[in-house]
Amino acid sequence: MASIAVIGGTGALGKGIARRLVKAGHDVTIGSRSAEKAQVTAEELGAAGYAANADAASGKDVVIVTVPHSSQGDTLALIKDKVGDAVVVDTTVPLVPPKVMRVQLPSEGSAAMQARAHLGPDVKLVTAFHNVSAHHLDSDHAIDCDVLVFSDDIEARKTVVDLCPGMGLRGLSGGSLGNSAAAEALTSILIYMNKTYKADGAGIRFTNLTEAPAIP
Ligand SMILES: NC(=O)c1ccc[n+]([C@@H]2O[C@H](COP(=O)([O-])OP(=O)(O)OC[C@H]3O[C@@H](n4cnc5c(N)ncnc54)[C@H](OP(=O)(O)O)[C@@H]3O)[C@@H](O)[C@H]2O)c1
Repeated sequence: MASIAVIGGTGALGKGIARRLVKAGHDVTIGSRSAEKAQVTAEELGAAGYAANADAASGKDVVIVTVPHSSQGDTLALIKDKVGDAVVVDTTVPLVPPKVMRVQLPSEGSAAMQARAHLGPDVKLVTAFHNVSAHHLDSDHAIDCDVLVFSDDIEARKTVVDLCPGMGLRGLSGGSLGNSAAAEALTSILIYMNKTYKADGAGIRFTNLTEAPAIP
């Protein structure tokens, strides 16, 4: 079992991810700008610990960052020198309110590329979880959605793919960090589909992958 911090773990996505990681038996620390706020979520989920974000990010195997795009840079700058050898998983989708149903990727190409710029070349950076609805994660039901995982570090990518089945998800390698743009863009399409087809959290499934992990 891994030691995992969820930065912004009091929010919609972070709490959902943390809930499933706790259930899978991992040693989960909830991070927040406020340790008191993190404590409330940690106690609700039965997580092992809670701390202010920078402390939460220290000494972990995996650090998952779940904050709004507008605070991605400041948050990554805060934890950059704390994460050490950890695999850092950035979940940021670069939505531009109010037109969140339109793909509007940043000039750098993706939130992943922005994360790389903020963290520098030495941090083991992975991106994932862009297409999974927070409210499905924050439940005990099965989730009909694949998780695309991107990184230029093959071992780090595998670490995150392997976390997924325990969370009730199928993790699939999506290749290099640059490919993250595709999953980030898909989120706007999923939001559009939720509205158009009155879906309760549309997801994605890939087919004909005979050698991929089984759907849990
Ligand atoms: N919601 C989804 O279904 C979903 C799905 C896929 C990907 N995502 C991505 O996941 C990320 C988080 O989404 P979310 O819906 O969970 O967001 P959220 O609930 O609005 O915010 C998550 C947490 O971020 C922290 N935060 C808010 N403003 C901040 C600031 N200015 N500086 C530092 N931390 C701040 C807050 O934690 P504290 O107040 O405790 O510090 C908050 O609980 C986003 O990038 C989003 O695109 C979301």
